[in-house]
Amino acid sequence: MPNKYFTFNYKDCVTFIDEQKQTESQNKLANAYDLLVTKQGKGNDFLGWMDWPVDMDIFLPQRIKEEADRLASISEVVVVIGIGGSYLGARAVIEMLSPYFPESKLPHENHPQILFAGHNLSEDYLFDLLKVLDQKEYSLIVISKSGTTTEPAIAFRILKNHCEKKYGKEDSVSRIVAITDENRGALREMAGKEGFATFTIPDDIGGRYSVLTPVGLLPIAIAGFDIERMIFGAKIMREELLSTKTFGENMAMQYALFRYLLYNKGKTVELMVAYEPKLFYFIEWFKQLFGESEGKEGMGIFPAGAIFTTDLHSLGQYIQEGERMLFETVLSLKQNQHFVEIPTNDKNLDKLNYLSHRSIQNINHMAEQGTRMAHVTGKAPNLQIDILRIDEETTGALIYFFEFSCALGGYLLGVNPFDQPGVETYKNNMFKLLGKE
Ligand code: PA5
Repeated sequence: MPNKYFTFNYKDCVTFIDEQKQTESQNKLANAYDLLVTKQGKGNDFLGWMDWPVDMDIFLPQRIKEEADRLASISEVVVVIGIGGSYLGARAVIEMLSPYFPESKLPHENHPQILFAGHNLSEDYLFDLLKVLDQKEYSLIVISKSGTTTEPAIAFRILKNHCEKKYGKEDSVSRIVAITDENRGALREMAGKEGFATFTIPDDIGGRYSVLTPVGLLPIAIAGFDIERMIFGAKIMREELLSTKTFGENMAMQYALFRYLLYNKGKTVELMVAYEPKLFYFIEWFKQLFGESEGKEGMGIFPAGAIFTTDLHSLGQYIQEGERMLFETVLSLKQNQHFVEIPTNDKNLDKLNYLSHRSIQNINHMAEQGTRMAHVTGKAPNLQIDILRIDEETTGALIYFFEFSCALGGYLLGVNPFDQPGVETYKNNMFKLLGKE
């Protein structure tokens, strides 16, 4: 049975790919699917995310919620320290589910504010954050699978120091939670010695596939969202994608195949587009997931992102008439949560009365349709994900869908979608320059 969260549509793409190629590649796709579900492919020691929604300890969500409630009861602000996969998933989901302005939250929506650190090396960012923390009651969640990543380690040292000065050494311990590997890494050792509460990142789940583990779930629960509904959405999507290898019934197979075929036609950039700005960080998460998973061995689609209509006034010209190397995947939201109507005006000086009584959502949808027609005519193929509404279940389902599609995409290219050897190069240079032994 198809899920109730979203559908995938490739009709604005088929004309760009001849039918024979589609049929030929379906065998390759079936092989990639088999490699994934039988766990025989490259990097198969990192497939824990695939069964995680049904395999996780049944008491884990409750434990996470209890820890979230405890931190919420002592904090106005919770700082989540992490980078890459230890940061983007939580931020994506929290931004997606939250109202745009903290001031527009209803009283029951008031939960600690989640701030992020350790995802850059900006001195001013940390300085400003410390100024905020001077004035607020706060706690820290430090997340690092390896437990040794430089950016979060530096931020944690600074923030822990601030926390100890503000609350005293003993009290500060109850304000710090570490999420890391079960046994390895400096963070695990430190957590053990200092007595921080901890959660474990499973060994067989890599950073960018970890948002449904405590890495994402703890910050998301503190922000007031229902993590069990998220896990439920992921479960439904897992069932759907694992239950059938029939191309016409498996959205992840369709998405992976069309991306692959477009790539082979020279469409080397995928522009993930949303017409709802709160999806900005979800697109950032997508960029990291696909960029680190596919971009290796001289191959891979370059994942890019845009928010329309905002970016139609910056990137629109290029997309319509620039180099023809991109395709778009549109996250198309069908239903907003709220309704804002355009008022009528007697004088009509702005000549907008033709839009009177229409909702902004309706106008946004027209912009979306018009843009799609223009871009497809301009030879930028469009894939589309029609999302009914944004809520916890949909978010969980979308995360699982993209993870599964990404793994399939890696196997179609013949690369290991679960490693990131290229990230080491900059680190080694930086360590040399910094004089690390
Ligand atoms: O997806 C990945 O594995 C990476 O993006 C990591 O999440 C990122 O480098 C942070 O690593 P760690 O959690 O070990 O600090």
